[in-house]
Order: sequence, then C-alpha cells, then structure tokens
Amino acid sequence: MTPDQLARIHAAAFRHDRGWSAQEFAELLASPFSHLFTQDAAFALTRTIAGEAELLTIAVDPDFQGQGTGRSLMDLWLRSLDGTAETAFLEVAVDNAPAIHLYTRVGFSVTARRAGYYLRKDSAAVDAVIMTKGLTLGHPRVSPD
Ligand SMILES: CC(C)(COP(=O)(O)OP(=O)(O)OC[C@H]1O[C@@H](n2cnc3c(N)ncnc32)[C@H](O)[C@@H]1OP(=O)(O)O)[C@@H](O)C(=O)NCCC(=O)NCCS
Repeated sequence: MTPDQLARIHAAAFRHDRGWSAQEFAELLASPFSHLFTQDAAFALTRTIAGEAELLTIAVDPDFQGQGTGRSLMDLWLRSLDGTAETAFLEVAVDNAPAIHLYTRVGFSVTARRAGYYLRKDSAAVDAVIMTKGLTLGHPRVSPD
C-alpha cells in the first residue's frame, strides 16, 4: 500500500481529526522500527522499540467498518510480536467507543489518561487514554509466587 493510499484511508476514517499526509506516512515507513499491516481498504501502522510495541494508528475505510477487519489487523499485529516485545500500548480518544471496544476485546486495558490530548477540527479537545497489554516475549507467564 502506498503512502498516498494510506493517507486517503486515514483521512476517510478520521473525519474529525487532522489526517496524516502521504509525506508523514512515507517518513514513518522509512524507519526500520515501523511495521505496516494491511487488509482491503484498511491498515495498521506500528512501531517496536526496545521491547515496547506501539500502535501508531489503525484505520478502516468507513465503507468496510464493522466487518471484522480491525480485529483481524490487531490479531496480525499482536501475533507478530511473539518473542519480540514485552508490552504493547496505544493511545485512543476517550470518546472513540468502537476503538476502545476493539482494544479491550484483544486484551488491552486503560493505564493512564492525558487531558485535552486530541485537538479536534470542529469541537473542543478530547482526553486520550493510554491502553496497555502485557506480552510474554514468547514465554508462558508465571505467577510471582
Ligand atoms: C476502530 C476501527 C479500527 C475498528 O475497525 P472495524 O473493522 O470497524 O472493527 P471490527 O469490525 O473488527 O469490530 C471489532 C469490534 O468492535 C465492534 N465495533 C465495530 N464498530 C463499532 C461501532 N461503530 N460501535 C460499537 N462497536 C463497534 C465490533 O462489534 C467488534 O466487537 P465484537 O468483537 O465484540 O463483536 C474502525 O472503526 C476505524 O477505522 N475507525 C476510525 C479510525 C479510528 O478511530 N482508529 C482508532 C484510533 S486509536
């Protein structure tokens, strides 16, 4: 998927936020730490640094939402982290119920909140929550005692 296609899907999916430009996508993709997962009209862009995996953005074209694509991209990303990361995290606007529902379904929980983090084109700024999921670097989790 080209940076232009990514920017088009992103702008369609994030109608109330500033879209990311093709140039921004090109720069992110050039990083050796970035990973792109794609499906028809949808993608997830992630980054793993020092054992911490971050979901930079996920976008499904509105015409394709609610058909399991977002879940499938999250599963692809999380499976790819087996043995390579200790933690996965992401930021999401508190009013983005579909995304928070999806992230909760795949095992993320809220660990912090940032006031007024998302600037909106047509309304007041919205808080962000940080959601985190513990991973095991490929080893089974054992209880501390
Ligand atoms: C959030 C997003 C990636 C989800 O992708 P999707 O393909 O629509 O989601 P899926 O069809 O895989 O559904 C995953 C779960 O979310 C639920 N869901 C999807 N859309 C929903 C909606 N509008 N309202 C409530 N729940 C919703 C589904 O029912 C499903 O839950 P279940 O497993 O309990 O049945 C997509 O809606 C999107 O691109 N939104 C705009 C961009 C965005 O907000 N990105 C995240 C920013 S952090």
